[in-house]
Amino acid sequence: MIQNLHQPRCILVTGGAGFIGANFLHHIVPKFPEVEIINLDKLTYAGNLLSLSEIESASNYQFIHGDICDLNLLHVLFDDHQITTVVHFAAESHVDRSIHTPLEFVQTNVVGTACLLEAAKTAWNLNASDPAMYRFLHVSTDEVFGALGRTGKFSIDTPYAPRSPYSASKASADHFVRAYAETYELPVIISNCSNNYGPFQFPEKLIPLAIVRSLCNDSIPVYSKGENIRDWLHVHDHCKALETIIHQGINGETYLVGGSAEYSNLDLLNILLTIVDEELQRPVGTSQKLITFVQDRPGHDFRYAIDASKLITELGWSPQYTLSEGLRATVRWYLSNHSWLEAVIDESYRSYLKAQYEIS
Ligand code: NAD
Ligand code: DAU
Repeated sequence: MIQNLHQPRCILVTGGAGFIGANFLHHIVPKFPEVEIINLDKLTYAGNLLSLSEIESASNYQFIHGDICDLNLLHVLFDDHQITTVVHFAAESHVDRSIHTPLEFVQTNVVGTACLLEAAKTAWNLNASDPAMYRFLHVSTDEVFGALGRTGKFSIDTPYAPRSPYSASKASADHFVRAYAETYELPVIISNCSNNYGPFQFPEKLIPLAIVRSLCNDSIPVYSKGENIRDWLHVHDHCKALETIIHQGINGETYLVGGSAEYSNLDLLNILLTIVDEELQRPVGTSQKLITFVQDRPGHDFRYAIDASKLITELGWSPQYTLSEGLRATVRWYLSNHSWLEAVIDESYRSYLKAQYEIS
């Protein structure tokens, strides 16, 4: 394993203005001042440069506004910089949006990933180089494995069975990544992670949506009866897992990342909304009253759960946050970052909510 240690010199992060990408940049930019870090982001509705204001002037950091589907731009970036490492976050990431606009997901998640692979393949002289010199980390999701029943967990041996346009596009991207490893010996690693939460998450996803709507005393939409189960991980724990995988992971391998924190949506919301009420110093139960059951998501996956034992035993990673600590930190972050929130809750956000839930 020691021979496989990868030391990045220049990292291309894609989608670094989004939720996980921004947290990842906050983690690595100050920690590795000797490493050049380039953030390529198209700035869709989910990308926000305000999320990066604390690191934007760091001397080892540079933002490039662009699209991962623009192959010419990617060739120029690889030509202009000695990129040793790609950490690929850029994606359309919301399941509900994928149900309405599936082709946007095919374009960014499949075509965009294929363009990045092609640019890396062209730039990296694979035959001549030491295999630990380059690394392409593709950040993927547990949703590629489909839905679980009440028991069992996803493991690295679970067959792919995606069930939404989002997860099908991510699964397709994963297949392209493996195909480039098999065909061209591109040094790739795939990580498949469970549901993340934490700072800078766009309030279309369940946790920030519930926090924001509870702050405004607005109804909180819960699909069906709130019985679906997710395995939650604080985004800082995910970022540490990615750092570990970049340095110590083995090319060609897959690592599953998860927090072993399984909760039904209703149980999760009860914990979260109690914390919101406590932090706002209002009677506990005030926010729970806002929960409103709405029509289910089509094809709603029942349960996800991750077996992260390979990452834990082989690379020594483990999650640090308990769910209640992580949720409290997250609630406090949203309560103390008004300007970020106000910038995000704009007119297009309100029309999205109206179209999605018929609420304003
Ligand atoms: P996000 O939607 O918050 O951010 C996506 C970012 O990608 C945005 O900054 C957006 O502007 C950018 N982007 C979109 N299309 C682009 C394009 N064509 N070119 C360049 N940039 C583009 O997503 P996230 O929640 O931070 O997820 C990041 C990655 O992690 C995704 O690949 C997602 O599938 C994966 N993932 C997410 C979770 C989760 O719980 N959020 C869990 C597991 C895996
Ligand atoms: O598992 C990893 C995945 O987790 C990531 O790959 C995705 O990018 C990320 O969006 C997330 O997908 P989910 O669909 O699980 O997350 P979301 O926050 O949209 O929903 C979480 C659960 O809450 C899910 O069972 C649907 C439910 N839900 C969601 C919304 C937005 C509601 O009940 N009401 C809602 O309004």
